[in-house]
Amino acid sequence: MCGIIGYLGHKEAYPLLLAGLQQLEYRGYDSAGICTSSDNTLHVHKLQGRVQNLTAMSLPGTRGIGHTRWSTHGRPSDRNAHPFADGKNQFSVVHNGIIENYLELKEELRKEGVQFSSDTDSEVIVHLIAQNYQGDLRQAVLDTIKRLQGAYAFCVLKNDREEIIGVRNGSPLVVGIGVQENFLASDVSAVIEHTRNVIYLNDFECARITREGVDIRTFQGEPCPFNVKEVNWNLEQAQKQGYKHFMLKEIYEQPQVVEDSLRQSLSLKTKFSRLIIVACGTAFYAGLVGKYLIETVAKIPVTVEIASEFRYKEPLFSAQELVLAISQSGETADTLAAVRLAKQQGIGTLGLINVVDSTIAREVDQVIYTRAGPEIGVASTKAFTAQLLTLYQLAFYLAGKDFKPLHLADQLRAVLSLNDQIKDLAQKYFHYQNFLYIGRNSQYPLALEGALKLKEISYIHAEAYPAGELKHGPLALVSEETPTVALCLQDSVYQKTFSNIQEIKARGGKVIAIATEEDEKIRSISDDVIYLPKVEELFLPLLAVIPLQLFAYHIADIKECDVDKPRNLAKSVTVE
Ligand code: G6P
Repeated sequence: MCGIIGYLGHKEAYPLLLAGLQQLEYRGYDSAGICTSSDNTLHVHKLQGRVQNLTAMSLPGTRGIGHTRWSTHGRPSDRNAHPFADGKNQFSVVHNGIIENYLELKEELRKEGVQFSSDTDSEVIVHLIAQNYQGDLRQAVLDTIKRLQGAYAFCVLKNDREEIIGVRNGSPLVVGIGVQENFLASDVSAVIEHTRNVIYLNDFECARITREGVDIRTFQGEPCPFNVKEVNWNLEQAQKQGYKHFMLKEIYEQPQVVEDSLRQSLSLKTKFSRLIIVACGTAFYAGLVGKYLIETVAKIPVTVEIASEFRYKEPLFSAQELVLAISQSGETADTLAAVRLAKQQGIGTLGLINVVDSTIAREVDQVIYTRAGPEIGVASTKAFTAQLLTLYQLAFYLAGKDFKPLHLADQLRAVLSLNDQIKDLAQKYFHYQNFLYIGRNSQYPLALEGALKLKEISYIHAEAYPAGELKHGPLALVSEETPTVALCLQDSVYQKTFSNIQEIKARGGKVIAIATEEDEKIRSISDDVIYLPKVEELFLPLLAVIPLQLFAYHIADIKECDVDKPRNLAKSVTVE
């Protein structure tokens, strides 16, 4: 996710903005830039790559704005890095989020003679502000907002004005209050070294900072009351936004990931009659859910292959096939090798990738980016949800149908509210050394993902099976000492899984069931039940993954494991 910092005060702005950007690096980014103002002139320095690259020089002035960019529209490059200026170099803007109607606005501005210097959606903002400016910067910003669709936070600096304007609509922005100096930032980590007094802006609020003070208005220009809060986090806690671990923060970001993913529209260049999904780890399990979705919704046959196996096969490709690589990092060596194998054979390739411009993203014929933002915890959580969301979009796109689910993000929020109950369950079960996970249909890949999460971060042995396979082996493992997590949500095979739970109970096994609300029957045959809201069968995987993530997380935390950096594992597996 991009990062923003703005400063106005009595100190040299450049080193201060640079230090702020360094504190925002943890969010992930691919380019960075700073704009300062002195003697009524704007000075800009922006580069692709690390913030460190900006230290080679300095810019004068005691006010300025800075940005770390995580590309969405336009590849990482110097020209696409923020800040952006208008044609006369009087206004400068840094932006987080997405301007959905930028193409339309760009077209309109072009017709009026505006020249663009980047491929980004963000640049339209600065040109609109320049057009709307009639001596009052805040008013020009408020007039501009009326034209923007999407989710955003941005900051604006003008060459000859002792003020910075910041707005928030869907992307976070805070004001830091100092003495004869004030700040704007996308999160408190960027300002915590200078002040602990912050105002968290709400959506649809506009802040104007000067040296002396802060003034907050609604988007209609009405004055807004605000509370100054004292932050007592250290830097590391601030980067985790108060969560104990990045993994927990990322689990909680999933409703936002759903909202961000639903904002993007998808279109494919190629036609195909069969899909081969290649991936590793959690991305492979997302692929298994994808198979279910695409075959159910679009009626297109899909095979899903573990990339490390696929790359050493002699696959019998036929024309009209497409290889879809799913990867959070876009750098996984085996997934990359599978893509290269397909390309050598003249087969079309598509990537579903989270990290913009990563190796796989660059090598596939077409890439669709998932909208998870940077994932820091080694065990994947929100990237899985973003992968699922994109697979839903793909399935519906291939079926020629609209994908506009209602209330999905709120349903995820409702599941997250079960956190305390799941924490209690973790307390009850953390001392077991073996777990079984079972599910059928689309819930089987979820069982695999649940077991993987537990293995990865709590080092507890967990095996996942399709519930129907119990009798072919794993039933022999069932005992008082091996609890089973059973995904038994109400779907077309509910009754079958229900019977499997009864078989486990009959053999003295303990069962934690993940079930649909109001299913009283399941309570009588389970030791514990986690109830999820009722949703259409197709959407069950999106909800069911959350209790599995939380269960693994709390067990690992109780066991005092290094949740974000589990032993022996890496976030990005760039070697075989
Ligand atoms: C590693 C990570 C997993 C991830 C897998 C695939 O094992 O720890 O969380 O699912 O790699 O990574 P990718 O970046 O290709 O999705």
